[in-house]
Amino acid sequence: MYLKWKSSYDIGVPIIDRQHKQLFALIDELQREMTYGDARQMIPDVFARLANYTRYHFSTEELVMKKYGYSEIKEHKAKHQYFKQELANLVVRHQNGNMMVSVDTYKTLRDWIIKHVTSAEARADQHFAEYIKKHPAGVNAFSLPEDCSTPELS
Ligand SMILES: [Fe+2]
Ligand SMILES: [Fe+2]
Repeated sequence: MYLKWKSSYDIGVPIIDRQHKQLFALIDELQREMTYGDARQMIPDVFARLANYTRYHFSTEELVMKKYGYSEIKEHKAKHQYFKQELANLVVRHQNGNMMVSVDTYKTLRDWIIKHVTSAEARADQHFAEYIKKHPAGVNAFSLPEDCSTPELS
């Protein structure tokens, strides 16, 4: 199954929603590479871009949380940290010559991101968005500095 962005995944904070869409597009691209592409050549490249973009996205969220004084920043950062470590381990495995991402590994990563972004149960992005939406500063109070603008997918 391919990963299509649905408007119901929007959390209502524009800066974060734009990044989530990019993140989902990268996961979808990785899945397509695994199905149709030359896995040895392409997957490490897409995979490294996914790892970079994920790190970038997590830093954005953590800045937004800090700016808004979100009370569960520590817990949310720990979830990000866990995932960054999982990705970092996989990138190292690639660099050591194990070029393939197994389908099971891919599914584990994909499911973690989907749950983190879309599930209220995960007490992650949805929970943090509910907090921001109630904040008197409004959802657009934070913007990224220009030198840190959202990279477009090639
Ligand atoms: Fe997120
Ligand atoms: Fe998050």
